[in-house]
Amino acid sequence: MLTDRTRTRSLLKALLLLGLSLPATLRAADPAPADSLPSNPQTQGIMHGIFDAISAILPSSFDPAAFGDQKNHAMVSERLKLLVEKADELEKHAKSRDQAFGYMARSFGRDAKNLKRLYELKQFDHARFVLHNMTENCIHCHSTLPEKTHFPGAERFLTKIDTGLLSPEEKARLLVMSRQFDEALNAYEGLLLGETKGHPFSYETFVEYLRLCINVRSNLTRPQGVLKQIAARPQTPVHVKQQMERWLLSLKELDKAGALTQATLAQGREIISRGKKVMEFPRDQDGMIHYLVANAILSRYVASPKATGANAAEAYYLLGITETLMDQSFWVSLSEFYLETAIRMAPGAPFAPKAYALLEENYITGYSGSSGTHLPEDVEALLKELRQLVEAESKKAKT
Ligand code: HEC
Repeated sequence: MLTDRTRTRSLLKALLLLGLSLPATLRAADPAPADSLPSNPQTQGIMHGIFDAISAILPSSFDPAAFGDQKNHAMVSERLKLLVEKADELEKHAKSRDQAFGYMARSFGRDAKNLKRLYELKQFDHARFVLHNMTENCIHCHSTLPEKTHFPGAERFLTKIDTGLLSPEEKARLLVMSRQFDEALNAYEGLLLGETKGHPFSYETFVEYLRLCINVRSNLTRPQGVLKQIAARPQTPVHVKQQMERWLLSLKELDKAGALTQATLAQGREIISRGKKVMEFPRDQDGMIHYLVANAILSRYVASPKATGANAAEAYYLLGITETLMDQSFWVSLSEFYLETAIRMAPGAPFAPKAYALLEENYITGYSGSSGTHLPEDVEALLKELRQLVEAESKKAKT
């Protein structure tokens, strides 16, 4: 099932890269410079609580025997209580932030409550599974927007964990979770350049690394060195080599153009259309760098107070496209949320029918396996509601 989902998604991604046209009517966008997003002390305060709770629970969770051990019970229960309280606070606080933040906060809150419940039921293995996967919420939020302040408290965190129990990818992700971005970038580079034995080049790892460079650090120069080294290695297959060279060109061009200096809708739209132009054939991934850069720009735009009304709706639509292409996770998926948000905010916009079509396709491919397509009732109902919203608007426009 998972393999089918992955395969159909890849095909969808390739078609998307080539085929999607952009809305015909282009409105002037609100300017929102990339540096207009200061740190938010309230977010930081809640994060300290979340970090305290998680950094007490996580270390023992990598050892199945220690996690369920009675001697840790009082400490773990107390920290889980704190985690749920802080997750509730985060959800309330999210009302003052953008919709994507709100969605991630709700996802995190659901996971935190589920984790606490499973632990209380003594379903320790299932609880550990939820705990490890819920860190994807932290990783997703932390690898979307620029880092504004360095959080020094995180440095002690990994020393408490027996890292011998972790794969190199898990280690790199924990560094992102705890916002040790310098260390995370080094860890990813080690992985990608094969310094970690037995870990060949992986596309997923590459995208995670690029998100840190692009979204978090606004740095289009650093990854160029990594691409060059991968391309120059004698053992790199020809198709990977060629891919690296083309991505390198995109990075250089976007870097030179200062692509990340403007966090506007017009800029996001422009980068996506340039990405489409560098594609030659359906399985061609050449536009990936452009889509990643557009994702960083549009994420900053929607997080700014300037993003309102139809412009914000269009930005969510374009984010839905970029996220459909990059989405690797089976635990947290933002693409459907972005597309739904775009439709709800502007069901009569020129892009709404396309946003609906892509959303429907995403759900159908997501719920298709070897035994056919099985859309859950709530998804069917949601699609029907959104379809009716879009249809009603287009009827209105015709009369
Ligand atoms: C809904 C999104 C979201 C989720 C979920 C989330 N974070 Fe954060 N976190 C943020 C943002 C945004 C910042 C940056 C705050 C700022 O500088 O304004 C942040 C900052 C932090 C900081 C640094 C605080 C500081 O003083 O600079 C820590 C530590 C942290 N998060 C830990 C975690 C951990 C651990 C998890 C998961 C268990 C997590 N966060 C989940 C969005 C999130």
